[in-house]
Amino acid sequence: MKTTFSIIKADVGGWPGHALVHPDLKEIAAIKLRDAQVSELIIDYHVTNCGDDLELIMTHKNGVDAKEIHNLAWDTFCEATERASELGLYGAGQDLLCDAFSGNIKGMGPGVAEMEFTERKAEPIVAFMMDKTEPGAFNLPIFKIFADPFNTAGLIIDPSIHDGFNFEVWDILEHKHVLLRTPEELYDLLALIGAKSRFVIKRVFPKKTSKLPESEPVAVISTEKLYQIAGEYVGKDDPAGVVRAQSGLPALGEVLEGFSLGHLVSGWMRGSHNGPLMPVSVKDAQCTRFDGPPRVIALGFQMKNGKLTQPVDLFADIAFDYTRQRALEITDYMRRHGPFEPHRLPMADMEYTTLPKVMTKLGKRFKEVK
Ligand code: 13P
Ligand code: 13P
Ligand code: MG
Ligand code: MG
Repeated sequence: MKTTFSIIKADVGGWPGHALVHPDLKEIAAIKLRDAQVSELIIDYHVTNCGDDLELIMTHKNGVDAKEIHNLAWDTFCEATERASELGLYGAGQDLLCDAFSGNIKGMGPGVAEMEFTERKAEPIVAFMMDKTEPGAFNLPIFKIFADPFNTAGLIIDPSIHDGFNFEVWDILEHKHVLLRTPEELYDLLALIGAKSRFVIKRVFPKKTSKLPESEPVAVISTEKLYQIAGEYVGKDDPAGVVRAQSGLPALGEVLEGFSLGHLVSGWMRGSHNGPLMPVSVKDAQCTRFDGPPRVIALGFQMKNGKLTQPVDLFADIAFDYTRQRALEITDYMRRHGPFEPHRLPMADMEYTTLPKVMTKLGKRFKEVK
């Protein structure tokens, strides 16, 4: 019997501004999910937040895109939004774009990362959650974890992963996807995913030669782009991802190593700036300086028959202090650029912005260059 691991997340009100999730909202979510566990809709759950994003981590037997599970998440976000409105939290219901729920939460604002798979004897699994950035922020670490031998020693020395992995990449502008094999198509893969605002890694699969089933994902990322759904800026897309580890997959340490650069991502203030992605503990996932810098947290579980152990707050480790220190230096360096690119995003990526209005206002004053 297969198990489904789902992360469904939404920003339903910030405390204050876009910094954090208020404890009342997490309490509401925990009660909803506990009730769902008692009624056996879900097997287990964990509620947390990354910055101002409320994160519902759930295990169940209903598969991906299950109406009952999406319904549960939607109701939870709606209840939390009511409380957020009572408290006057900032942007209450920000990510709930439609009033009527249609049975699938995709395309309605919240982010969804879920996968169904056959549990191994021991199943180490990591939930990654980011704030103040976009789905493409996962491209670099997921590539490093599953395709870069300088990151993942196992690609060279472990026979069970030596053949590499398959990457499902989505073109989020054209709404198409393609499956690329590594290491054979490494350069094609990089040609696409280097353009991280357009091409995003959606899932990673084992190769045919793996001892794991070829059709069952070993990593999945939420790829919802809010502004494309809403047609205007309503907040960043703040993605989540799930990665399985060990025996036939990269080791836990190889998975976490993918986040050790503090790589540059877009998001941060008003969703319009490049800055370093800082791996932090859950308690440090609060975006304050210039609404950032962008953060990622990692909760590690062992799963058995869908039951989760207590999570381990993996980036709380002091071994990530150096990455954080460097990210803070880069934060300061980038900030010194003020409104100049490449701190500010290029024109084409500006979402939350007066730039088109400035161009209209100045329109007639532009003269031909002779
Ligand atoms: P163990 O031999 O303790 O399982 O560790 C193997 C491993 O993957 C270390 O990275
Ligand atoms: P969120 O997407 O996390 O709500 O942040 C929006 C923003 O504009 C931050 O400056
Ligand atoms: Mg917000
Ligand atoms: Mg957010």
